[in-house]
Amino acid sequence: MNKIIRKEQFSEKVFLFEIEAPLIAKSRRAGNFVIVRVGHKGERMPLTIADADIKRGTITLVVQKVGLSSMKLCNLNEGDYVTDVVGPLGNATHIEKFGTVLCAGGGVGVAPMLPIIKALKEAGNRVLSVLAGRSKDLIILEDEVRANSDETIIMTDDGSYGEKGVVTVGMEKLIKQEHIDKAFAIGPPIMMKFCCLLTQKYNIPTDVSLNTIMVDGTGMCGACRLTIGGKTKFVCIDGPEFDGALVDWDEMFKRMNTFKDVEKDEVEHLQD
Ligand code: FES
Repeated sequence: MNKIIRKEQFSEKVFLFEIEAPLIAKSRRAGNFVIVRVGHKGERMPLTIADADIKRGTITLVVQKVGLSSMKLCNLNEGDYVTDVVGPLGNATHIEKFGTVLCAGGGVGVAPMLPIIKALKEAGNRVLSVLAGRSKDLIILEDEVRANSDETIIMTDDGSYGEKGVVTVGMEKLIKQEHIDKAFAIGPPIMMKFCCLLTQKYNIPTDVSLNTIMVDGTGMCGACRLTIGGKTKFVCIDGPEFDGALVDWDEMFKRMNTFKDVEKDEVEHLQD
């Protein structure tokens, strides 16, 4: 059982949780994720670690209410316990001094992007960040990103904050402004796909972090499998980060929708 130390509400559906997990806090690296369960029969939810505090023995997760399990988690409060947290899982982000790096985060994708931005900065890169969301209240962790980036652009679909437009508009502005050596994009799959189409046009190698359906998170069940560069890969042990140009996005969209109807029924049942 892992205790919730702090809960913060970012927007109607997005919450930050600081959870006691001292061993994970000590060993996690940028890019690692955990699998969280609420209830002994609960679904196993993969969540990327947004931050960790070794002294407090805590990790920070940002969760969006999208289905039954995330709803159950978001309904918990400070002092409550999560049934279990397993990790750190997955490979750490490959960090080196690339030069100038463009980091694009969409919605809650900014949370897993933050440790990458910090690690890139620490490695001596010039870091340019683009944060995007549908509207102002969906822009999260702006201060933390700004503190670790050389330049930050905010994009909102409705123009309620920053510049009006989608994430790729902000990215292209920076690409035209200066030479970019490397890019990272994390957010909804459709956003990552379009980020990669843009960077491919400019020959910028781009890594994406995939958040597929997972069960065990250790390479045994095959639930997270995807085709990357024509080969079957398991996101949990081969990823979660991959070269975005090699991802079969259509297959990813299809697999993410596999349990949509079951999920809808369960959520309606919960709300009855
Ligand atoms: Fe089971 Fe990846 S989650 S193989």
